[in-house]
Amino acid sequence: MKILFVASELFPYVKTGGLGDVMAALPRAIRALGADVRMLVPAYPALRAAVEIQGVAATFADLMGGGPARILRAEAPGLPLYLLDQPAFFDRPGGPYDHPDDLARRFAALAWAGAHLGRVGDGGGWRPEVLHGHDWPAGLVPAYVAFGEGPRPATVMTIHNIAFQGRFPASLLSDLGLPRHTLTPEGVEFHGDIGFLKAGLKLADRISTVSPTYAREIQQAGGHGLEGLLAHRHQDLWGILNGVDREVWNPAKDPNLVSRYDLRHPARRAPNRLDFQKRMGLQEDPGAPLFSAVSRLDPLKGLDLVLDNVDHLVALGAQLAVLGTGDVHAEGAFRQAAQRHPGRVAVFIGYDEALAHRAFAAADVVLVPSRQEPCGLTQLYAQAYGALPLVRRTGGLADTVVGVSPGTLADGTATGFQFEAANGWALGEAINRALALFHDPATWRQVQRRGMAADFGWEGPARAYLDLYATIPSKGN
Ligand code: ADP
Ligand code: GLC
Repeated sequence: MKILFVASELFPYVKTGGLGDVMAALPRAIRALGADVRMLVPAYPALRAAVEIQGVAATFADLMGGGPARILRAEAPGLPLYLLDQPAFFDRPGGPYDHPDDLARRFAALAWAGAHLGRVGDGGGWRPEVLHGHDWPAGLVPAYVAFGEGPRPATVMTIHNIAFQGRFPASLLSDLGLPRHTLTPEGVEFHGDIGFLKAGLKLADRISTVSPTYAREIQQAGGHGLEGLLAHRHQDLWGILNGVDREVWNPAKDPNLVSRYDLRHPARRAPNRLDFQKRMGLQEDPGAPLFSAVSRLDPLKGLDLVLDNVDHLVALGAQLAVLGTGDVHAEGAFRQAAQRHPGRVAVFIGYDEALAHRAFAAADVVLVPSRQEPCGLTQLYAQAYGALPLVRRTGGLADTVVGVSPGTLADGTATGFQFEAANGWALGEAINRALALFHDPATWRQVQRRGMAADFGWEGPARAYLDLYATIPSKGN
């Protein structure tokens, strides 16, 4: 089976969050099962510089007013790529979602290029049977397929985060190459605007999201306005959990760590804590319970609940290290907290991949207090690295962490801590539970071992995606 992923991020070249990680691991995992998955991404400078260009799959005099464009054939290790090379849109500094003036047009160009590969092929005899778009930047792929000429490959949309929908003024319709008749609830229209994600969810043959619980939540109160559409399409909507790429996230061979370790050598974990404490400017205290969070600072991530608990943590003798960037108020509040508690609270405002690895290898507890979390990866990385995740019971967090309770300790299934209400008090109460267990080292190690042994591999999810593709009736083209 031939499948083309269309996406805006790809680790290690371009990543703003979990989407980048998943786009690096999932297509390779599906390829390992024998399907021919390839991926279309913008030709960002970092990607251009790193991969070998092998040829030209298509050329366009203009796409969406961004001038001349080409689709280049390229290869990342173990993953054939198509790069949308359109310098006016993609060959410039900044993150993938910067430059708001042409945000709609440039991701429309990406979707158009994807639909072109699906309809016409790459000029070298390769044409995908399934076009699989990820998040709103690929939302118009099913629209260009549905409203265009020629063969219609099957289409799948995956929701990594329904809070980001790509909503733009209806006045852009013709700039995006969409005919007037598409501006209806059956097409791309969403509350008078053009909705990229909405269009994808309406028009794709199948929809998936990244955990079973989130698949339910987005049909109810958590759908950010799309709950009705998704409830209507519930038979086409699958929840498939993300996995962990053990090539990248593996304490036994992680080059970012001063000391590598595994289940059989847990004592080798300790030097990583001292190294991290030193790097972060925390007291090099081997006994203090170390809480950490590695997160975008976005209201949905619930880091304000952590801010509510800074003094509580310090009063209980714990340390806190936060790596994050995003909301400027949250950044300022964490900086102030660190100034208030030098040596006990530390923040790194910014994005640092290596430091994130070190945080997971150092922390005792990784906090993930999200209000909503489609899947979440940091609670999985925490488990793989022997830190206990403390999560709010929502979305993928509910599906991947088994909360400590008398029952789960007795049957050995506990892997972390959960709390329910999205407020600082509830988090504080869960912190108390975590600290109580911390002072019972034998039981702590039992929970830690269970997490480190958990199988969050990509093979199972990859099979589930193949099963999902197999449910789409063949269109005979
Ligand atoms: P989301 O995609 O919503 O941001 P995930 O938990 O799925 O949440 O993925 C977050 C990814 O981004 C993880 O790989 C995490 O390690 C990484 N990350 C988040 N913030 C930072 C940061 N400040 N520095 C380095 N990595 C970060
Ligand atoms: C999104 C979600 C996150 C998920 C990631 C990868 O960014 O916010 O929960 O893990 O996508 O699917």
